[in-house]
Amino acid sequence: MYKKKILVAGAGGFIGGYLVKKLLNLNADVIAVDIKPTDLWFQLHNESSNHSLDLKNYENCEKIMIDIDYIFNLACNMGGMGFIENNKAECMLSVLINTHLLSAAHKNNVSKYFFSSSACIYNTNLQEKNFIEGLRESDAYPAMPENGYGWEKLFSERMCKHFYEDFNLNVSIARFHNVYGPFGTYDGGREKSPAALCRKVAQAKIDNSNKIEIWGDGEQTRSFLYIDDCIEGILRLFDSSFSDPINIGSDEQVSINQMVDIIQNIADMKSIQKIYLKDKPKGVRGRSSNNELSEKVLKWTYKVSLEDGLKKTYDWIYKDLIKHKNSLSKYSKSHILNLDKVESNK
Ligand code: GDD
Repeated sequence: MYKKKILVAGAGGFIGGYLVKKLLNLNADVIAVDIKPTDLWFQLHNESSNHSLDLKNYENCEKIMIDIDYIFNLACNMGGMGFIENNKAECMLSVLINTHLLSAAHKNNVSKYFFSSSACIYNTNLQEKNFIEGLRESDAYPAMPENGYGWEKLFSERMCKHFYEDFNLNVSIARFHNVYGPFGTYDGGREKSPAALCRKVAQAKIDNSNKIEIWGDGEQTRSFLYIDDCIEGILRLFDSSFSDPINIGSDEQVSINQMVDIIQNIADMKSIQKIYLKDKPKGVRGRSSNNELSEKVLKWTYKVSLEDGLKKTYDWIYKDLIKHKNSLSKYSKSHILNLDKVESNK
């Protein structure tokens, strides 16, 4: 299908690693870029041309843009609530990546641009109850997104839209809802709740303990999207001519306590005492995706149940924890990296 020259920005991250693999399987010529040194990429594929570059810098965007047909921009400084609540300025600086990539794409006649936005752009006033109606795309306005990260994503969505309107750069804009799966961060400060809680249960099992710590009271809700469904959604969206932001998420809304119970069953543990840390970052109280629009225009919805996705995630984290008994794995190290010190490897 693709046989095109495709730039994947953020290729060393969680979603990027899976996307590069899929595009290579579709015979694309993939130029993979990430700010991390390549030995810390979550998945490194030999068939792509891999570069460690900071795309906040415009010259780097120009340098890598030669003969590129399509761009998938998944690059941003991000993580779960523990990271984004405490690093708002850092999160906002990712605006430079999108700004410079869009400008270089326009200048170099790129034909299509994918932007990874987030459910964090939705109005927080609509997310104050435990269980809420799934968020529709129109619920982004009037705007009151999550501080830092959410505002950056909302601004960047609009910048993509205006490049489309003013410069005819075709765009696809996905609003991801908490994507999870194997080969993602599960420790070190950037981990999201599915990976964090799988890791905590797995560690309790390894240590023969029956206690885990949960942030908040555990009654807050989310919906979670398994990585394979996310990749399928990205490609469906990219193949369509739909240019407005659209949810790529699940509507299987559960509380954090319910998710822990599912993981406990997967781990085959009889009882786990939940210790609630009420002063930890909590984000919105309740969030879920409404998928009517994606079902209608993309004929896409998620297929993997939370239980099935968590099983695959838990099994991978359990094994990786055992493998890295006395050290942080590469899926956690990026938190402590000085990411200004990167260089090209090719
Ligand atoms: N990270 C984490 N770790 N969260 C925990 C934990 C834990 O050990 N225990 C309970 N939680 C709770 C958090 O307090 C929060 O209320 C909820 O689980 C969800 O936290 P996250 O999974 O970290 O983030 P999020 O769902 O609020 O936002 C994530 O998804 C967005 C897209 O839907 C973030 O990754 C955002 O960056 C992303 O845009």
